[in-house]
Amino acid sequence: MKPPTPINSEKTFADDEIIVSKTDTKGYITYGNDLFVKLAGYREDELLGAPHSIIRHPDMPAAVFKLLWDTVSQGEEIFAFVKNLSRDGGFYWVFANVTASYDVNDKIIGYHSVRRKPTKEQIDAVNGIYKKLLEIEKKDGLDASVAFLLNLLNSKGVSYEQFILSI
Ligand SMILES: Cc1cc2nc3c(=O)[nH]c(=O)nc-3n(C[C@H](O)[C@H](O)[C@H](O)COP(=O)(O)O)c2cc1C
Repeated sequence: MKPPTPINSEKTFADDEIIVSKTDTKGYITYGNDLFVKLAGYREDELLGAPHSIIRHPDMPAAVFKLLWDTVSQGEEIFAFVKNLSRDGGFYWVFANVTASYDVNDKIIGYHSVRRKPTKEQIDAVNGIYKKLLEIEKKDGLDASVAFLLNLLNSKGVSYEQFILSI
């Protein structure tokens, strides 16, 4: 399926609404709640079994997803601000909490993400950093943008989680 061409049209959802999706260990979608399906703009049967990157927005730096996967695959949770791409090219921002799901033997069998609506101030703060990361990725590659992010955290003396939760 050809990725949609992004357009400058923002979708929002209510403060008390939650967007949920689940994936297998490789990031293929295994579940999405009604709001997830609605905002993504695809039919549920098109989303199930598709890679989660089906809603990846080109404005998102790859460094954020690298950090996400490095963290959750170790069984740790991560919080992240994510700009997603709908089928019609529009976008919606979320504040996601991604965690691993385990079987009875404590083996990771997949992941799930629960998302709330971020504030306008949070989006503005994150947008600036993401633009910078993307610029570095285009010029010098992923390692350089991860290094930039880690340096930024170092200079503030905070962990990624402390930083994100302070935004
Ligand atoms: C539970 C879970 C939820 C995810 N949710 C999103 C999401 O909402 N949007 C997104 O772009 N990527 C999401 N990802 C990350 C994607 O798997 C993927 O790493 C990302 O879209 C970048 O894709 P790419 O590496 O193919 O460019 C999620 C991953 C997991 C495990």
